[in-house]
Amino acid sequence: MLFDWYLEIGCRSGKVFASVRGKTVAVDPFFRITQDVIGQKPALYIMQKTSDDFFESNFLKRCGIELSVTFIDGMHLFEYLLRDFMNAERHSKRDGVIVMHDCCPFSFEMCTRDLNNIPKGAWTGDVWKLIPILKAARPDLQIDVLNCKPTGLVVVSNLDPASEVLFQKYEDTVDKWRDVALEDFGLNAFYKLFEFQDGATFQTETSVFDAVSLDPASHEVPGYATP
Ligand SMILES: C[S@@+](CC[C@H](N)C(=O)[O-])C[C@H]1O[C@@H](n2cnc3c(N)ncnc32)[C@H](O)[C@@H]1O
Repeated sequence: MLFDWYLEIGCRSGKVFASVRGKTVAVDPFFRITQDVIGQKPALYIMQKTSDDFFESNFLKRCGIELSVTFIDGMHLFEYLLRDFMNAERHSKRDGVIVMHDCCPFSFEMCTRDLNNIPKGAWTGDVWKLIPILKAARPDLQIDVLNCKPTGLVVVSNLDPASEVLFQKYEDTVDKWRDVALEDFGLNAFYKLFEFQDGATFQTETSVFDAVSLDPASHEVPGYATP
């Protein structure tokens, strides 16, 4: 698929955005790039800073960038992901899509908020909270949860860049949810909030990305400027 502007938060090696062909903004406070990440992109901005600092800089507005697709895989504490979601939505097209990683943990250990004791292997932190938070505060959003391994993908569409609801509720939401552990919320209660959809067929069987997809023929492949 080809999009106009793609934002990725939490990129590390760059392996996810390497294959993106559209214009891209990549944000991470500490990149460890291991491959060609430019590829066929007409534009690529690498922002080596936290997502909060990035949004604070107002770069997107100053450049007149409206986001088609955002992928968020940055700091795995729910208040960070909530801010990333709020800020990304504010800069998205109405038909844009925001995809969030790691919101479906399969053990309590991987949900820890203790940054000094992150388990080996998958660490989701407590970003699972975004599902109940968004479902309660923003019933207008379409939230699709995909069964992608290891810990799911949440695809949010029907965005409203003008919505102030999450900004107004931010402090109360953080106070309410900070000390709630998945053990307290209940695994059954969490997994009753949604039905998993098949990640392998989601893109072809839904129209979620249609409005922001560009005709691949419109993509100009860069070539040698000199022999
Ligand atoms: C799980 S890794 C991302 C992996 C990457 N998406 C991939 O598939 O290879 C999380 C990344 O989030 C970055 N990160 C941590 N805190 C962040 C913040 N406040 N803002 C943006 N990125 C952050 C880390 O530097 C790390 O590279």
